[in-house]
Amino acid sequence: MCGIFGYLGHQDAAPLVLAGLERLAYRGYDSAGVAVIDRAGHLEVRKSAGKLANLTSLLEREPLSGNAGLGHTRWATHGAPTDANAHPHLDGTGEVVVVHNGIVENYIELKGRLAAEGHTFTSATDTEVIPHLIQELLAQGHTLAEAVRLAAAELRGAHAIACMHAGSPGTLVALRIGNAGGVSVGFGSGEMFVASDLPALLPLTTSVAPLAPGEMAVVTPEGCEMLTLDGRRVDTARQTIAMNPVAAARGGHRHFMLKEIMEQPESAMSCLRGRLGFTPPSAVLGELPFTSEELRSLSRVVFLGMGTTQYATRVGARTTELLARLPASAEDASEYRYREPVVDERTLAVAVSQSGETADTLEAMHLAAGGGARTLAITNVAGSQADRGADATLLMHAGPEIGVASTKTFVNSMLVMYLLAAHLGHARGALTDAAAAAHVEEAARLPALLGEALELNRGVYERLAAAYVKARRFLFLGRGLLDPIAREGALKLKEISYIHAEGMAAAEMKHGPIALIDGETPVVALVLRDALYEKMLGNISEVKARGGVVIAIATAGDDSIEAQVDDVLWVPPCPPLLAPMLAAVPVQLFAYHTAVHLGNDVDQPRNLAKSVTVE
Ligand code: G6P
Repeated sequence: MCGIFGYLGHQDAAPLVLAGLERLAYRGYDSAGVAVIDRAGHLEVRKSAGKLANLTSLLEREPLSGNAGLGHTRWATHGAPTDANAHPHLDGTGEVVVVHNGIVENYIELKGRLAAEGHTFTSATDTEVIPHLIQELLAQGHTLAEAVRLAAAELRGAHAIACMHAGSPGTLVALRIGNAGGVSVGFGSGEMFVASDLPALLPLTTSVAPLAPGEMAVVTPEGCEMLTLDGRRVDTARQTIAMNPVAAARGGHRHFMLKEIMEQPESAMSCLRGRLGFTPPSAVLGELPFTSEELRSLSRVVFLGMGTTQYATRVGARTTELLARLPASAEDASEYRYREPVVDERTLAVAVSQSGETADTLEAMHLAAGGGARTLAITNVAGSQADRGADATLLMHAGPEIGVASTKTFVNSMLVMYLLAAHLGHARGALTDAAAAAHVEEAARLPALLGEALELNRGVYERLAAAYVKARRFLFLGRGLLDPIAREGALKLKEISYIHAEGMAAAEMKHGPIALIDGETPVVALVLRDALYEKMLGNISEVKARGGVVIAIATAGDDSIEAQVDDVLWVPPCPPLLAPMLAAVPVQLFAYHTAVHLGNDVDQPRNLAKSVTVE
């Protein structure tokens, strides 16, 4: 998955494209490049491995001038992140330039055929076959739009592609096949933009047209023509998006990740705003179009997500089962989409995705819809593909999340699912009025409790990071609603500190991982004062009996725990269903301070991308 940005108009293209790529860097940042065509039809490319700053300095040394530009920020799939493999890619004549997001699944076959016809390649990417295919078709007399369309028909897989040709400097062709991330066209005055997502366009224009799968846009500085990939003209609706540009200031914090952790009370408050009814207390989810009858007729809820978000859905599924008394499962979307799951009209499929652009989550949602399920998106990005593709959407309202490691959207997605569970439980009669009201009152306490959680343990994280940073690996253990938080704690640590960590249900440790226990494998035990507290104490004893080191995440006031473990991080006392949201804070901050101690790039960790738009 990668970011694409294009510009056609009267301004100098390179700086605009570069700024657009900066807004898309969350999609990948292992290399970047830009191509510019001047009025005389002279096409030049600059590209550089590494973060965008490398391309910026290259452009300072070797500027590009022209009013048509195409740029790309990459997350490598085929071919290492080198200068040669960075996009844009050219054909053999150097006249056709392509940027691409997706995987050409049949690239070996295509490359073989083209090589046999005399084409030579300069990169190890799958993408490079695309400009060569287009050039062949141009040589046969097709227009640029036709050549791109016909070339696309030869590609297997899901793609977003943008292409320019030195021979037609005033035209840019963009297309979308399947769900390899979106492509949207932005309308300016005498200038046009193309970008992978809407937020990248918003500082420039709020007038946009997102391409549906199977559509292409032939863009000129004056406007664009929309076609289907079988060549029919379509009237893709132009929309006006009312959304602020990404607020990118770190607000005095050293990293976006820390800023986003610290603003969790505020983002939880935004999520709750307008959703709490008080007389009597109830979850007001006015965005849901489903009638009470429809909610009562549901037979199961399937939550779909990936990564951190998938761990949030594990909490959501358990909460739904508990409050709505409905069978609910949390599915790894990448597995769900290929396993022919049982789905019907009585299934509610809930796709949870911060970005709303994760390819596997979108495909899993479409698969469920195909089987008759009603679909609901829970996303942080209005106008994202998940939002547009679902029957209904509940927005997380966390504000833009820039740090690649998700934090505040993890908490907000659990909070939305908690409200949803209470709403379903009430609508289905599984919760009495009083019980539903009690849950809403508890949810309303979350912002203040998050504030308390952030106040606790000041200075302790830094001390623990210094003390444990040499550990070769960590285990994270939790039970019940804290099992997913143990998994998330391990994921966070891996993502930004690069220390191996495993998170699991505490009882599972006995079935193998206990063999790893030694004095150099710290165990982070989530041992809050809940119904499973004593069971967790048993698991801690098992670790201690084997010479293990335990860092407890415990309920403030539980003084007895200190004697049983090596270190403690406190969480404020809280209602059981808020515990996962509050226990998220210490696991986030522990990972953050460990990574800072190691001097790692916390906001853009190696090899990752914020949004995975390829499967
Ligand atoms: C990537 C990110 C994770 C995120 C996952 C799902 O792997 O690095 O932080 O949890 O994608 O993203 P989504 O946007 O669908 O929530």
